Amino acid sequence: MEQNNKPTALIMIFGATGDLAKRKLFPSLYRLFQKNSIDKFAVVGVARRPLTNQEFQENVKDSITTFTDAKENIDEFVSHFYYHSHDVSSSESYIQLKGICDRLDSHYELQGNRIFYLAMAPEFFGTIAEQVKEQGLTDTQGYKRLVIEKPFGHSFESALELNERIRTAFAEDEIYRIDHYLGKEMVQNIEVIRFANALFEPLWNSRYISNIQVTSSEILGVEERGRYYEKSGALRDMLQNHMMQMVALLAMEPPIKLTTDEIRSEKVRALRSLRPMSKEEVGNYFVRGQYDAGTVNEKEVPAYRTEPMVDPNSNTETYVAGKLMIDNFRWAGVPFYIRTGKRMDVKSTYIVVQFKDIPMNLYYKTGETLHPNLLVIHIQPDEGITLLLNAKKTGNGVKSTPIQLSYSNKGVDSLNTPEAYEKLLFDSMRGDATNFTHWDEVALSWKFVDTISEVWENTKDETFPNYPAGTTGPKCADYLLAEDGHFWWPVENLDLQDC
Ligand code: BG6
Repeated sequence: MEQNNKPTALIMIFGATGDLAKRKLFPSLYRLFQKNSIDKFAVVGVARRPLTNQEFQENVKDSITTFTDAKENIDEFVSHFYYHSHDVSSSESYIQLKGICDRLDSHYELQGNRIFYLAMAPEFFGTIAEQVKEQGLTDTQGYKRLVIEKPFGHSFESALELNERIRTAFAEDEIYRIDHYLGKEMVQNIEVIRFANALFEPLWNSRYISNIQVTSSEILGVEERGRYYEKSGALRDMLQNHMMQMVALLAMEPPIKLTTDEIRSEKVRALRSLRPMSKEEVGNYFVRGQYDAGTVNEKEVPAYRTEPMVDPNSNTETYVAGKLMIDNFRWAGVPFYIRTGKRMDVKSTYIVVQFKDIPMNLYYKTGETLHPNLLVIHIQPDEGITLLLNAKKTGNGVKSTPIQLSYSNKGVDSLNTPEAYEKLLFDSMRGDATNFTHWDEVALSWKFVDTISEVWENTKDETFPNYPAGTTGPKCADYLLAEDGHFWWPVENLDLQDC
């Protein structure tokens, strides 16, 4: 990691006219600029469309005034932006791009530091990586880093092929694979909650934990992304990456140091301990769903099968729930339940750690069953922690009642929580790859997910569509837990509204 905490970089954004650049990347860079975290930088927007530098700067202005409350230093900020109209497969186009980069490098004194940010269709990732090397763009005095968006392949085989192609131009430690969940404040907090509290770490194992649940539900449907989503489904879109990453953080052993390599290697070990499934067993561990028409926020919304660019007989899942078993000493017998879906009733991501019941219920005479202790980590939209304990019910007699200790991240340190992308962009400029996924993590999660997708792609689910939009998903997801004597914890009663 660089010592100077104000990094310098020339950032090439491939796909600079796309949605991600507009919604996330330009606003994040603006916030970093406003906080004075960066000053020596230049951005070259790279995309097919012909645009002048001025037109591109207008786009950037539009983006930051729409997605941030930008009022100050707007012209100064956008003056760092340049544009190159690019043909991905033309060597000549890369040579021109190199000319622009070299000029900007000396103009802004960027010490040859280069970030290649690929925010575009994955079929071009390999070509771009090879071309930037062949045409000498990676031949630089400073660092060179490749920041790459998902999807990273659509199976283990395709991910491996892609990895081999990008590795011809970049070493593993120069590759920053984005999983934007790793940039979320409360996802980063998982490690701190676990490793900085004497209260939790001794209990964080199969002796005291009954099960762990990770839920990420969305209200939005597939929107305009039907073409991509038809081939991806919830399994590849959310589970292979975001959900598995959260499981790895919850399950990993304490690293010996908080360095990138140590943390990543513990995550890899956790993923290596995932119990493999045979194809015949997939149905015992995973369920899928697809949304039907329904009502969301009092508005009628269409079924997945009638969304744009979706096959009217589509077999693609928009919901997935599963049980992961981690067969190691710490977690033997503890199920990790995960679920994610589109067009659900709420937008909410949270983790519930359910502790085992105490050995004996002394309150049984009053007819009470004790509420289990729960630790809830609220990831979004609320950010915080709730600990559910039992305490005496006020009044005569000794009865217990569940109480909540809640902490909300809102307004802490009088800072707004930075956007995931802001943190990740800054990390990539500083050379901190901790919150990016290592190839070994990607490979292991693809291998796990491939078994499920092979089965699902080859068997049509005749029950589809099996949940109305605006609900909590298909019933069969409840049976998955009921078989083990568990149920999904809804967090409505555990939210942070009152804190
Ligand atoms: C993306 C998926 O990775 O994550 C989208 O491609 C999904 O389909 C999004 O909507 C969810 O992210 P967040 O941060 O809104 O939970």
